[in-house]
Amino acid sequence: MTEQIGVAVLGATGSIGSSTLDVLRLHQGRFKIVSLTGWRRIDPLRQLSNEFTPALIAAEPEHVPDLGSNPLDGREGGCYLGGEDGLVAAATHPEVDTVVAGVSGAAGLRSTLAAVQAGKRVLIANKEPFVMCGELLRNAASESGACLMPIDSEHNAIFQCLPLEAQRDVTSGRGIGRTSEGAGVSRIALTASGGPFLRAPAAAIARATPAEALAHPIWNMGRKISVDSATLMNKGLELIEACNLFGLQESQIDIIIHPQSVLHSLVYFDDGSLIGQMGNPDMRIPISHGLAYPKRAASGIAGINLSEVGQLNFEPPDIERFPSLALAREAAKAGRSTPIALNAANEVAVDAFLGGLITFGEIPGVVARVLERHEPSEITDLAHVVEIDLEVRSLANDMMRRGSPS
Ligand SMILES: NC(=O)c1ccc[n+]([C@@H]2O[C@H](COP(=O)([O-])OP(=O)(O)OC[C@H]3O[C@@H](n4cnc5c(N)ncnc54)[C@H](OP(=O)(O)O)[C@@H]3O)[C@@H](O)[C@H]2O)c1
Repeated sequence: MTEQIGVAVLGATGSIGSSTLDVLRLHQGRFKIVSLTGWRRIDPLRQLSNEFTPALIAAEPEHVPDLGSNPLDGREGGCYLGGEDGLVAAATHPEVDTVVAGVSGAAGLRSTLAAVQAGKRVLIANKEPFVMCGELLRNAASESGACLMPIDSEHNAIFQCLPLEAQRDVTSGRGIGRTSEGAGVSRIALTASGGPFLRAPAAAIARATPAEALAHPIWNMGRKISVDSATLMNKGLELIEACNLFGLQESQIDIIIHPQSVLHSLVYFDDGSLIGQMGNPDMRIPISHGLAYPKRAASGIAGINLSEVGQLNFEPPDIERFPSLALAREAAKAGRSTPIALNAANEVAVDAFLGGLITFGEIPGVVARVLERHEPSEITDLAHVVEIDLEVRSLANDMMRRGSPS
């Protein structure tokens, strides 16, 4: 019998976590869940703990007691842990081979880096750490021998379209831009559904409510990424993630609006060929690909019926109505610490919007003003990344407290 693959699911109570667990339920003999993390949604975490009896569960420290009596009793090493240290322990547990990074936002940075440094196979949904310090993560992978597997749907699509040698350069952290010259990749295109406001006039977008911004027409996702999809900042973050994960220049990456969301991204080759990956818009497909790679395994999702899709449409994004995309491109071009500033300002602004403190239309204004004030510096290590992240959050909060976000 082949040995079971130990899995850590970081962010198990979220959208990526649920999709991952759905796929893992289809392949119970092949994978063993070693650790699970949630944060504040304790009832679902308790249910998952009873269902999978992992060795380790982590949550926000004050919620750990709410997990109740420990169902891991009697299991060697079975424990509940709180906070970031708990996430790091879940990601680096010796029985874990594969880590699914599904925490939302910069909160996943330390655990993702720890998983990479520990030489794990890391399935990357949590894009923000790769936006903030992708090169640091790639270098850590080269040193530890970790395997980086993109499962954000667009990046997974790009990965699937690459020749095997270039795939190895991505998983090992070398990146295709620097070494895979023979792969012949000239540029890539990330597709975007366009979000809930694709056809909305600028004035309506500016006064959109949280309920409207969270109502994504295609994908059912967590709150932060849903708002980012409505501003198109998500596509901007994905652009930076793609630069950092694949080692490409910002100028090599196109963004194309594709409302049907069945063509997930494309690679342009030097010989004029264009290869794309298609599938129904469901995260269980890229997650299943990442878990089974280099093999294929059932995801629980059927293939696309192209006759039902009928037609595929493509159009350029409207930067006037969606200025966040232009801000992200500027940050990608500026490089150094600028993407950290972009990400932190955006996280603060999205929180403020969801909390009713600013309007939807003010989100890009907060980010733009923070970027104007930010002095870019070279990134040295994790402590430096965290320091910049905290400084920018404090600046963005100050700006909003003073009441002139745009
Ligand atoms: N959802 C998608 O379809 C999708 C697609 C591509 C990429 N992604 C990326 O995947 C990541 C997760 O997205 P999601 O939609 O799954 O988000 P989500 O549904 O909001 O789930 C986020 C998870 O992170 C946990 N969490 C929240 N704050 C935390 C903190 N401070 N420390 C540790 N854990 C924390 C949450 O725990 P509690 O809920 O228990 O508080 C939850 O388990 C994001 O980076 C997103 O950009 C998502």
